[in-house]
Amino acid sequence: MDNRPIGFLDSGVGGLTVARELMRQLPHEEIVYIGDSARAPYGPRPAEQIKEYTWQLVRFLLTKDVKMIVFACNTATAVAWEEVKEALDIPVLGVILPGASAAIKASQTGKIGVLGTAMTIQSDIYRTKIQALSPEMQVESLACPKFAPLVESNNYQSSLAKKVVYETLRPLVGKVDTLVLGCTHYPLLRPIIQNAMGQDVKLIDSGAECARDISVLLNYFEINRSRSLEKTQHRYYTTASPLAFREIAENWLGMAIEVEHVSL
Ligand code: DGL
Repeated sequence: MDNRPIGFLDSGVGGLTVARELMRQLPHEEIVYIGDSARAPYGPRPAEQIKEYTWQLVRFLLTKDVKMIVFACNTATAVAWEEVKEALDIPVLGVILPGASAAIKASQTGKIGVLGTAMTIQSDIYRTKIQALSPEMQVESLACPKFAPLVESNNYQSSLAKKVVYETLRPLVGKVDTLVLGCTHYPLLRPIIQNAMGQDVKLIDSGAECARDISVLLNYFEINRSRSLEKTQHRYYTTASPLAFREIAENWLGMAIEVEHVSL
């Protein structure tokens, strides 16, 4: 048993898609969330800079005495997860492996699409992980640099979002039967992405898959939070405006929350 919270990090609000799944699957666990919205998007930044920012987020979470850290960001997972995981003595989980294995299970034709930020796609990490597990899979990757900014600016339900998503996804339409949402911001665009790709295409939300793995790890290390405790008190921090973060977060989580500004 370990009653400390689980730390979540992301470049901004995207990791809330993972946090929401965790709250649904494990409602008695407590979360400390940090989103670096002041410096989002991470996707177009150089790997060294993303690594540096990610370490700052990790150090912040460690000051909150977390029992586990979830990289609720594919971009940070692609460039910094291995290094951070080796350096810490608490479990550190990324979103990429769970998404890769879920895509393999879901695909019937063996043709998998992967959407992600410029850095995630450039790292080719999804193809590497998918083909390491299942070499016969064909992977079509597509960078979607305009998607995360649409979400961060709270425009993810706008007609502009629809136009951008349809235009960006055109090269993949009809080519894959399974599509990995390889950026935690993208589930907020899910209805538009599903319409653009067609209803038959299976969308893999790597965040939701990751929440299942968190549960496995909590059991494995025997660090679940006691179910007999008082109700949870999740904490949210952002490096940008708490108001802007709160608006998106409350809409997505469906509950009122408090958000604190933090400088890293
Ligand atoms: N949410 C992030 C991801 O999963 C990154 C978006 C960005 O900051 O570019 O990759």
